[in-house]
Amino acid sequence: MSLSPWRSHLARNLSQHLSQPQSRYLQLATVGMDGRPANRTIVFRGFLDRPDQLKTDQLKFVTDVRSQKASHIQHNPYGEVCWYFTKTREQFRIAGTLHLITSDEPNPSMQQARRIGWQELSDSGRSQFAWADPGQPSADSSEISLGEPPDRDHPLKHFCLLLLEPTQVDHLELRGNPQSRCLYVCDLDRNWSSQSINP
Ligand SMILES: Cc1cc2nc3c(=O)[nH]c(=O)nc-3n(C[C@H](O)[C@H](O)[C@H](O)COP(=O)(O)O)c2cc1C
Repeated sequence: MSLSPWRSHLARNLSQHLSQPQSRYLQLATVGMDGRPANRTIVFRGFLDRPDQLKTDQLKFVTDVRSQKASHIQHNPYGEVCWYFTKTREQFRIAGTLHLITSDEPNPSMQQARRIGWQELSDSGRSQFAWADPGQPSADSSEISLGEPPDRDHPLKHFCLLLLEPTQVDHLELRGNPQSRCLYVCDLDRNWSSQSINP
């Protein structure tokens, strides 16, 4: 499978920002049940590998099934990430369908991908999934017990792998005069086309 045309641009940006771990933080927008947008920062965790080890176009994230974004996605799977790379001054807006891989996931290869996502977290990252319900009023901090980190091989129930399957990528390069902007669109057969557009 050949890489999608926008992937080489994203890969170049990622490699030019290896010394800046924060360049893996991006903003994910979803739509709530009331039709209003919501966005938040999340960490990019690479691209999903297929069982034959080939990379797909799907961006990986992790989240908690109890979070508001999880309810949004279960109601409306469309989302968009916005990702800005400071050194290169390039922005990627990647829109597509979000897939939440929960503890109930029936597909064994997706359940395996969820397990890998769990194993790749640090102990402190895994411990967050044992915390009290995100978004609910906090209890007295003296009531929160910080026990042993969770088992590395058994994802906690609330842990989800979150996948974004892109269908459109808007790539803006601020550097240069004039600036340049390219829109990549994916058809139903997952063939990509691209078009330079005005910035
Ligand atoms: C730098 C940074 C990285 C974050 N990474 C994640 C992440 O990978 N996954 C996640 O669910 N939340 C992450 N968060 C927290 C979210 O921004 C957000 O506060 C939380 O997920 C609740 O969002 P929601 O109520 O809209 O679901 C991160 C926050 C910051 C500031």
